[in-house]
Amino acid sequence: MGDTIMPIGKTETKAAQFADETNDAADVRMNPPPPRPNPRQEHRQRAHGGKQGVRKGFGLHDWMRLTRRAKDLAQRKGAPIRRDITVEEVKTHNKPHDGWMILRGKVYNVAPYLAYHPGGSEILERCLGKDASKLFDKYHQWVNIDGLIGTLLIGSLKGHEMPCLGEDDEDDESSDEGN
Ligand code: HEM
Repeated sequence: MGDTIMPIGKTETKAAQFADETNDAADVRMNPPPPRPNPRQEHRQRAHGGKQGVRKGFGLHDWMRLTRRAKDLAQRKGAPIRRDITVEEVKTHNKPHDGWMILRGKVYNVAPYLAYHPGGSEILERCLGKDASKLFDKYHQWVNIDGLIGTLLIGSLKGHEMPCLGEDDEDDESSDEGN
């Protein structure tokens, strides 16, 4: 028997033939079809100027892990929680590496949180050095501020009463007494 003459372009070994046959499947694995659009993500991108929100490694779990591990995220450097912060002082901290924000009378150093914000960093950067309470409530009144960025608390605005645990109860009792 003579050698089989292979037509030009056909594979000659079993292994190569197998590779040829599986190429299509491999192509699908190597070049998966584009993911279907996620309406929630699209909404987020529209909401903050078309920019991507959460990057890999900057999700909620990554943030919570960081808040548990980092010693002084707020950069208070051992200073106690303040109660004398002025709007003028907050205004001076308006840079992404040194950015404070007023939310409901409290002042937070939100710089470490910028990259983790699900709504994107740009929208937060525009609020640095300012009172962003109204915008915060406009987008997500339900978000638990201290649950997420309590470790970034610097203090409260001068003249703003920060409720302490139990104070509300006492108020209730005193108003009950009057009845
Ligand atoms: C610094 C404190 C803030 C925290 C802890 C925070 C937290 C969050 C969280 C957890 C989400 C996801 C909400 C969800 O999926 O339901 C979110 C989304 C968003 N945030 Fe914030 N946020 C903050 C400040 C702000 C401010 C000041 C603005 C506006 C200027 C803003 C604008 C947005 C927008 C546009 C989204 C996307 C909303 C959506 O998906 O529908 N955030 N933020």
